[in-house]
Amino acid sequence: MASVKPWSLVLVVFCIMSLSYFVNGAGSNEGLGASFIFGDSLVDAGNNNYLQTLSRANIPPNGIDFKASGGQPTGRYTNGRTIGDIVGEELGVPSYAVPYLAPNSTGKAILYGVNYASGGGGIMNATGRIFVNRLGLDIQIDYFNNTRKQFDKLLGPSKAKDYISKRSIFSITIGANDFLNNYLLPVLSVGARISESPDAFIDDMINHLRNQLTRLYQLDARKFVIGNVGPIGCIPYQKTLNQLNENECVDLANKLAMQYNRRLKELLSELNGKLQGAIVVHANVYDLVMELITNYTKYGFTTASKACCGNGGQFAGIIPCGPTSSLCKDREKHVFWDPYHPSEAANVIIARQLLSGSTKYISPVNLKQLRNL
Ligand SMILES: *[C@@H]1O[C@H](CO)[C@@H](O)[C@H](O)[C@H]1NC(C)=O
Ligand SMILES: *[C@@H]1O[C@H](CO)[C@@H](O)[C@H](O)[C@H]1NC(C)=O
Ligand SMILES: *[C@@H]1O[C@H](CO)[C@@H](O)[C@H](O)[C@H]1NC(C)=O
Ligand SMILES: *[C@@H]1O[C@H](CO)[C@@H](O)[C@H](O)[C@H]1NC(C)=O
Repeated sequence: MASVKPWSLVLVVFCIMSLSYFVNGAGSNEGLGASFIFGDSLVDAGNNNYLQTLSRANIPPNGIDFKASGGQPTGRYTNGRTIGDIVGEELGVPSYAVPYLAPNSTGKAILYGVNYASGGGGIMNATGRIFVNRLGLDIQIDYFNNTRKQFDKLLGPSKAKDYISKRSIFSITIGANDFLNNYLLPVLSVGARISESPDAFIDDMINHLRNQLTRLYQLDARKFVIGNVGPIGCIPYQKTLNQLNENECVDLANKLAMQYNRRLKELLSELNGKLQGAIVVHANVYDLVMELITNYTKYGFTTASKACCGNGGQFAGIIPCGPTSSLCKDREKHVFWDPYHPSEAANVIIARQLLSGSTKYISPVNLKQLRNL
């Protein structure tokens, strides 16, 4: 029989101690434990790199300002950090939530959170079909169900439940693609507009989202933050396509977003009453981004209409950002990085409001308050 060497015992004790740091650290108030991120390309951190899809951002110059990768593309649809990255950092999570589909997102790598977001994804399963593959919210929640079981194995069922319900925040940033890459697509393609009125479509979205949030609750999520849909009629893509002037936005797209947003707000207050012990925070991304676009000079931007990286038309808004795109010099002076997505500079301003802003943009509590509850 082999004898146990003293140093191997030391190693075992050390491992137990570092695991108990996670487990017992769960009771302390030193920052958030984990950040679970659901949504679309606004917060995708690389899941689409692992899909056969037409929606990809792991090509330069995406990520050019992302310090953690030394400026290499990671699959984030922006030049630097996403809102999800910045919020996690500011709430004290030691590292960015790992993309669920990355092969090395296993074991302890998931303790600080997992990111399920996928470029092209939406609330409805059919959304983003033009990209061939993407993860819709139903599938993202199926994946969290897998993660949930892994937490039981890592921490034990009782501590896992505590960690998930008390020390984790669940953020959901979704809905824009349900309009841009579903309902508003030209009538001859896959758009639901052929068969459904806006009221019926938005009704469907809200009913789906109610089920989806309830499923997360059943899996012990308690601290939620849900973003509404931004002013999608003001993105460079829509403005270029519709040949608008600098300070105009596409009316129909913004009207649909506002109509959905009103229903979302009602849904979230309904769930705040219905889901015992949960707190559901509403992030008013629409008004926040609208303020940024309207008053961009106040925030040090020189344009809120032209994409920094893109090509085509007046606002470089037709062809997505890639190696052959024209690239602006002053990236921190553009609200939009590409035809669809905000720059890191804009993300920083948006994230700051969500973290510590007033109820005008984040209610009933802001994210720093939510963490400390
Ligand atoms: C997983 O692999 C990627 C790519 O090699 C690397 O950048 C990342 O840091 C790794 N993540 C973890 C949690 O080990
Ligand atoms: C959407 O996809 C999910 C996951 O594949 C599936 O469970 C669900 O039934 C689908 N929903 C609809 C309405 O097709
Ligand atoms: C999670 O997965 C199990 C099967 O492993 C299933 O029975 C359960 O309904 C799922 N929960 C949710 C909320 O989807
Ligand atoms: C832009 O700033 C002005 C002056 O501070 C303010 O009155 C207005 O509401 C802002 N616009 C938006 C869309 O928030």
